[in-house]
Amino acid sequence: MLHLTLRQLKVFEAAARHSSYSRAAEHLHLTQPAVSMQIRQLEEVIGLPLFDQLGKKIYLTEAGKELQRYGRNILQQLEDAESVFNDMKGLRQGKLAISVATTASYFMPQLLGQFNQRFPGITISLNVTNREMLLNQLSHNEMDMAIMGQPPAGLDLEAQSFMENPLVIIAPATHPLAQESAIPLARIQQETFLVRERGSGTRVAMERFFSAQGIHLTTGTEMSTNEAIKQAVQAGMGLGILSLNTIALELETQRLVVLDVQSFPIRRHWYVVHRQGKRLSTVAQTFKSFLLEGHAQPK
Ligand code: PGA
Repeated sequence: MLHLTLRQLKVFEAAARHSSYSRAAEHLHLTQPAVSMQIRQLEEVIGLPLFDQLGKKIYLTEAGKELQRYGRNILQQLEDAESVFNDMKGLRQGKLAISVATTASYFMPQLLGQFNQRFPGITISLNVTNREMLLNQLSHNEMDMAIMGQPPAGLDLEAQSFMENPLVIIAPATHPLAQESAIPLARIQQETFLVRERGSGTRVAMERFFSAQGIHLTTGTEMSTNEAIKQAVQAGMGLGILSLNTIALELETQRLVVLDVQSFPIRRHWYVVHRQGKRLSTVAQTFKSFLLEGHAQPK
């Protein structure tokens, strides 16, 4: 019998699917050396190379193609078994009501989509609002759970982090600072910043950061959505500070750039939050585990 592990098989499957160790690593929340190591061990167990490397690209060898075929069957069988057990646990149907911070609405639908594929019978309701409203809803126990930046201490809440949420400074690609590196914090005091509304977690984090650094920012127009800030920054109304999670498209199309400012990004995390001692439904508990176990990976 081949002494390989399911973990090695999953890592191999991801590398084969993406034709890249680094993308597989990203997808699985692993480092690239961890992925290469698992594949090397797998090659040792099998006694044949699984990938050929040509420049930056990797290609499946004949043995790799065979393993991909068998591996898919094995993983599929396991998923089938999981869904039989899920039915037994009552996950065939049910409801999940979650509220998320505005900024989290950029990736939560993707995560909910992945969850929904596993549990197609579950009806999901997603409410999008800002941090202040979330805290309000949590105190009234109005939903299964909330997804937000770090909640304040002392509110009787249980909060666990599941994903990074770096805040970055954005500018139009034509901005003079776009070409500079290691820009000192003091330099950005000369710029005007567009800010999110009061009650936004992004805004709170930004204000805390600058006051701790003793920096006074000139704030321009206040806007209540990330979209409005992105548009206004593109239109040259000022710079913005937003979560990296919200600007993937604009960075790809180079409508916006992230400035290389010292002490940036502001490091934050996304938390799954509910009232302490809340009795979670099986569906809610399953979703929470889905997030915490790192299955969640926005594309
Ligand atoms: P928000 O983001 O700015 O959309 O409220 C929540 C957070 O980062 O805490």
